[in-house]
Amino acid sequence: MAFKPSQLRKWKEQQRVITMLTAWDYGIARLLDRAGVEMILVGDSLGMVALGYNHTLPVTLDEMLHHTAAVCRGVENALVVCDLPFLTYQESLSQAIHSAGRVLKETGAQAVKIEGGYPLMIETIERLTTLGIPVMGHVGLTPQAVHQMGYKQQGKTEAEAERIVQEAIAVAEAGAFALVLEHIPAAVAAQITQKIPIPTIGIGAGPDCDGQVLVTADLLGLSPKIPPFAKQYVDLQAIIEQATQEFMEEVRSRRFP
Ligand code: KIV
Repeated sequence: MAFKPSQLRKWKEQQRVITMLTAWDYGIARLLDRAGVEMILVGDSLGMVALGYNHTLPVTLDEMLHHTAAVCRGVENALVVCDLPFLTYQESLSQAIHSAGRVLKETGAQAVKIEGGYPLMIETIERLTTLGIPVMGHVGLTPQAVHQMGYKQQGKTEAEAERIVQEAIAVAEAGAFALVLEHIPAAVAAQITQKIPIPTIGIGAGPDCDGQVLVTADLLGLSPKIPPFAKQYVDLQAIIEQATQEFMEEVRSRRFP
């Protein structure tokens, strides 16, 4: 039975540590789900790891729908969340409703993730959740604002940290079921985690969040470059290159087939 967004508050109360990983296709999603990860995020980071873009901005809603539907076909238990890509929800409430609605109607995902807080995103989260569309928030470093903030850690000054804390509280009060905290000081993430009733899922936000997320291509060693706060658990790039070399050598020397 698939996990549901409504279970997450209880998990926080029970101090169950939540794991989330990204996926971009059926095969990866099936393996992550079989391993037992609670949430699978079809992040717009698929723009870099699966589509070869330099950042997330070019990703379209149709690309997200295509990849999310494939992910959902590989998943039995994990809760699947789909990122709404840049400029598919920021223009107006009706654009956000239309885009989030398409995700739920066309892919099998149970929730959407949107980046940012004040002022429009709080209203957007309120409206989507009122309509029965579960929303995961995302504050701190928001990669869709790369041309404004770069990939630098956010919340370093007291004023900036306070703004992120207030934004996180507003996202939770607006009805989000969970909140991604990206690349902020551990102490700020710990403070937010203590103050809000929904789980915080950290990436580069220290150990005191309610859960952690990684981009799976970073974990598997498939990314050309990984952020300093990510962890590579295996070097699949080297394994794939070696297997490819062995195949070519065996074919060329007529040892295979
Ligand atoms: O797109 C993505 O993979 C994400 C994670 C970094 C949380 O938003």
